[in-house]
Amino acid sequence: MRNNDCVVVVLAAGKGTRLKSQRAKVLHRAGGRSLVEHVVRAAMPLKARAIHVIVGYQAEDVAAVVEPLGAGAVLQQPQNGTGHAMLVARRAIGRAKYAIVIPGDAPLVRTETLANLLRAHRAGKAAATILTAVLADPTGYGRILRRGDGRVAAIVEEKSTDEETRQINEVNSSLYCFTLEKLWPCLTKLRPDNVHKELYLTDAIALLNQQGETVLAEVSPDPHEILGCNTRAELAEVDRLFRARKRAAVMDAGVTIYLPQTVLIDPEVEIGPDTIIEPCVQLLGRTRIGARCTIRTGSILTDTVLGDNVVVKPHCLISASRLADGTAVGPFAHLRDGATLLARARVGNFVEVKKSVLAEGVKAMHLSYLGDARIGAKTNIGAGTITCNYDGTQKHPTVIGKRVFIGSDSALVAPVRIGDGAYVAAGSTITENVPADALGIARGRQSNKPGWVRARRRQAAAAGRSKPAQKRRRAQRSNPTRKRRPAAKRSRPRAKKRAARRRKSRR
Ligand code: UD1
Ligand code: CA
Repeated sequence: MRNNDCVVVVLAAGKGTRLKSQRAKVLHRAGGRSLVEHVVRAAMPLKARAIHVIVGYQAEDVAAVVEPLGAGAVLQQPQNGTGHAMLVARRAIGRAKYAIVIPGDAPLVRTETLANLLRAHRAGKAAATILTAVLADPTGYGRILRRGDGRVAAIVEEKSTDEETRQINEVNSSLYCFTLEKLWPCLTKLRPDNVHKELYLTDAIALLNQQGETVLAEVSPDPHEILGCNTRAELAEVDRLFRARKRAAVMDAGVTIYLPQTVLIDPEVEIGPDTIIEPCVQLLGRTRIGARCTIRTGSILTDTVLGDNVVVKPHCLISASRLADGTAVGPFAHLRDGATLLARARVGNFVEVKKSVLAEGVKAMHLSYLGDARIGAKTNIGAGTITCNYDGTQKHPTVIGKRVFIGSDSALVAPVRIGDGAYVAAGSTITENVPADALGIARGRQSNKPGWVRARRRQAAAAGRSKPAQKRRRAQRSNPTRKRRPAAKRSRPRAKKRAARRRKSRR
């Protein structure tokens, strides 16, 4: 596809008042991208001479999105309507023969639809060709007024409709193809005689028709494609449609998704065949997943690369990490900022890994923090191991060799090295390097005191500090009017003896 005689103009200068937002409408996101990025990407494969994006409200932010894609930004200041936007673009457009105009808030449009519109326009030798759609509820859109011969007479904006034109359900998508030498003279004749006091591009259609030019309309086979995002409800609907499109493509490529409506997959995500995705999973950014993986429920992966046969158990949060073939993580694992797991490494529940490499077959199965660490093959990290990588100002590395055994509840104070084959005794706070094959032990020595508890119990009873005595006193204090227990019950010999003892000790 090459269209050297044609430019694309994306109208993206408006604020989008109906969204009630600080942010320009075209910068809002749906389906994992900003609206204007979707539009520019749909236009790119046409290989037009240029893509001009008309910017105005938050111009710099919009330009920053589209310029890296190869589009140019044209400033429209102030924003005096869609017709005015085209006039502003005239200098930048130069000598192109045709222009395809796309509103920046219609992100669902597909490249094929744009190509078909241009084809129909060329074939019909038209001055303008409008992409239209037939909607069950046309409210809010400009209506297409057809002539007897099927050509278009005019577009009537919602606010200018009367009883009769309001019933028309063929609407203007705001997507057009123009023959520019016919359009320019009409644009200079536009007048702002409407409620918004703007120059409407839609008014150029009636002018072209009045001058005997051909105005055609192509009905979009899928009315969804023209959906604009003027309200938050429309934005949500557009997002839903994008997500459904992506999931359909992923499933077509051989991926199983259960309860697909609950799964969010960003546009650039790639997934290998026979991978299974459970409900409520989010796969975001540039995440790439190999074949035969399982991503279990509630997990969120961002910019993460998975090899083949990887299992992500429920409720893991993983970002900017790499998990090689046959690794398994979770449930409830947090892998962030450059966690690298080599083949068959395993991370279990409540383990956080940051900027660390876990070599082949490493296991860290329970309740650990591993940060700025390099861990050699087949090493076992016991439950509750912490790398103390931060001294309050700087981060320091922990280097653990191969086939090391770190006992549970050890704190490894970085910078520190544990040699190959070494052991660290459970509960150690390791502040010095442990040589290869050595045992590092760093904790207070245990001593048992025989009979200590029994002696203490006796003392407590003697002083009336035994548990039953305390309970009775508490009850008495919280309810002073409470009657003492009836005498009959207290007449048992043991109770009598106890009472006597108490009287004596009180004296
Ligand atoms: C427009 C059409 C309407 C059509 C509808 C389809 C006009 C007058 N009306 O209405 O017939 O049914 O789209 O969604 O064109 N923009 C600029 N500069 C401006 C004004 C707007 O660049 O001065 C941009 C906006 O950022 C937006 C696009 O043009 O991306 C369309 O403007 P919007 O205000 O959304 O027009 P609608 O009222 O939706
Ligand atoms: Ca709109």
